[in-house]
Amino acid sequence: MNRPDEKDLTDAVLGTLAASADPRFKRIMTSLIRHLHDFVREVELSEAEWRRAIEFLTATGQASTPSRQEYILLSDMLGVSMLVDALNHRKPADATPSTVLGPFYVEGAPELPMGADISRDRHGEAAEVTGTVFSVGSGPIKGALLDVWQAAPNGFYDTQDPVQPRFNYRGRFRTGADGTYRFHTRKPVSYPVPTDGPAGAMLQAMGRHPFRPAHIHVMLSAPGHESLTTHIFVAGDPYLDSDAVFGVKNALVTEFRSKPDGSGVEAVYDFGLNPL
Ligand code: BEZ
Ligand code: FE
Repeated sequence: MNRPDEKDLTDAVLGTLAASADPRFKRIMTSLIRHLHDFVREVELSEAEWRRAIEFLTATGQASTPSRQEYILLSDMLGVSMLVDALNHRKPADATPSTVLGPFYVEGAPELPMGADISRDRHGEAAEVTGTVFSVGSGPIKGALLDVWQAAPNGFYDTQDPVQPRFNYRGRFRTGADGTYRFHTRKPVSYPVPTDGPAGAMLQAMGRHPFRPAHIHVMLSAPGHESLTTHIFVAGDPYLDSDAVFGVKNALVTEFRSKPDGSGVEAVYDFGLNPL
């Protein structure tokens, strides 16, 4: 029997997919094997580099826990998460764009009354966020659910910081009969994504900074509409053009203006949901 040499090794591996029953799996694996083999040829991967890559992927798995997903972080840093997002959410112009979920979402945040404060530690500059949730092509949506979370003014999420109370800077709000929502918080700050694992080591080796521009995460849902995972970014943030995870879209950037009565800052953001 002839053993495949370097030239026909790729075809030999592709040939083993002949009996695969799932056409989508077959298509994905065919493309993956082709690109992977071409990549190895293109960079002429050494054995030491191959071993280093295996160690890196092993460490990425080992750094992952139920509350920390290092592979998602890696995907975010390489722009893969935003590419998948772009391919899967081609929306009408009036719909609010989506962006990364990130690794810090926690289910089960308390549902709070209109206008409540999601800051449980009351640190930082007071901020009020208001707006309307509307259905693209028609009117405001009553009873839409907004699940809101953000990093504390020290740059850490409650789940990263043992000093913060549980559900600090997290809450769920429903729009009123006129489709409006309102909550209080503290002005978000820019913060570094976790750099103490293999994804962070890769970022450093690439010569990149780890910062994300200041933002509030919002996940929206309403009956008869596509759910939306997005952010409100703070206009003027120095990292808007170099987000470590490539999540910024112009339509998501909003001014946080000083309130006339001197009680902090305020931002207005209207969300457009796509009808199903
Ligand atoms: C975040 O915004 O919470 C986040 C997103 C991607 C990677 C790390 C953090
Ligand atoms: Fe975040």
